[in-house]
Amino acid sequence: MDLTDYERAMLDGEHGRAKARAMELLVRYGEALGAERLVETNNVAGAFNASTPSVKHIVERGMDSVFSELNLDSDEVVEVPRMAASTCQLITGIDNDNWKLQGASEELIGMQREAERYLGARGINMFATCTPYQVGNVPVKGEHCAWMESSAVIYCNSVLGARTNVEGKESTGAAGLTGRIPYWGYHITENRYGSHLIELDTEVDDMMDWGLLGYFIGYAVEDEIPVLQQATHQPNLIKLKHFGAAAASSGGVEMYHIPGVTPEAPTLEDAFGGRKPREVIRYGKAERKATYEKLQSASDRKVDFIMLGCPHNSIEQMELIAHLLTDRTIHPDVQLWVHTPRAIKQVADRNGYCEVITKAGGVVMSDTCPAISRRLPPGVRVIATDSAKQAHYLPAIAKVDGWFGSVRQCIEAAVSGQWNGAV
Ligand code: F3S
Repeated sequence: MDLTDYERAMLDGEHGRAKARAMELLVRYGEALGAERLVETNNVAGAFNASTPSVKHIVERGMDSVFSELNLDSDEVVEVPRMAASTCQLITGIDNDNWKLQGASEELIGMQREAERYLGARGINMFATCTPYQVGNVPVKGEHCAWMESSAVIYCNSVLGARTNVEGKESTGAAGLTGRIPYWGYHITENRYGSHLIELDTEVDDMMDWGLLGYFIGYAVEDEIPVLQQATHQPNLIKLKHFGAAAASSGGVEMYHIPGVTPEAPTLEDAFGGRKPREVIRYGKAERKATYEKLQSASDRKVDFIMLGCPHNSIEQMELIAHLLTDRTIHPDVQLWVHTPRAIKQVADRNGYCEVITKAGGVVMSDTCPAISRRLPPGVRVIATDSAKQAHYLPAIAKVDGWFGSVRQCIEAAVSGQWNGAV
């Protein structure tokens, strides 16, 4: 791999052992991928926290051990300095306020808080959300990033026009320390053109429509780059957040184009880089219905858990949930967890949305989600969610049955205890 003088000096240990180990990892990783060089990055979003029982034995040896082992894949324990690149923490395992409700122990929350002090002292910003782009980390078009979390990566590449592959704990640790990431995959313009054309033959308007379309497309194109022929209605952050999260979970899509909407596709021709689409795929009413049915894994209409906020809710979504719950009470056999980034929760608190939700019997959670934490209320059998991604993963992860529908349908189920959603 071609390295600059500065990168070579880091590799040779002239800037400390931590950067040397980070560079070793990046060179090893880059060469395995066929990358000929590294690229500078000043935007890293990774997972650095330590809040699971499985890492307790490492935490006991100190936080440098945790970072060395989990974020640098290093047997040698290095002293970790301040990050070279602007770096943030994605979602964590425990809600710093609602950890008891999640069934976490005092010891685990103590570990999480200790880790946060350590990471904060090294410049790692505790956004603690899978949607850093909702709380201030909004890279600009063309900016090279090193992000984990598939729903964030697809948003970063497609909606923002910034450039990242789906990174891991180790590569984001190394990128944070060095400000470098291998130059391959979605960092390269040539790899960002569309492959499949999606013809829309039905209305795609609300958030549920966009989730269904994304889920369909993921299965149809797997990890290729779909291009929507046109959007029948102008999407917004919320709709594209759900669209991308769904496409990334059913198929591993990391990038898409919508001509006239996403920044690298002013026209259909631009989206394909002047080439012809490899395949044309139609999405009509029948495909929408089949996708909806695929997402329903439950048959019992008696629900006991509603999860809203995957990916984490925006302030507009929090307002809608509060509006739908005003002067209503959640069924005594149902638990409602509403997930939003902590920064947005501050605004939702101030606006009184959290008070409405909690007064109705719901819980507003931050920092985490059931799929990542693998923590649900005890005894849950049937869930309902407005997220195609959560409906895809949670039944497999938590051995529950799931209903997928709109926010309104989920709130009605929370109040009545019965699922009555339909397409
Ligand atoms: Fe975020 Fe958890 Fe969904 S990390 S995208 S809320 S599965």
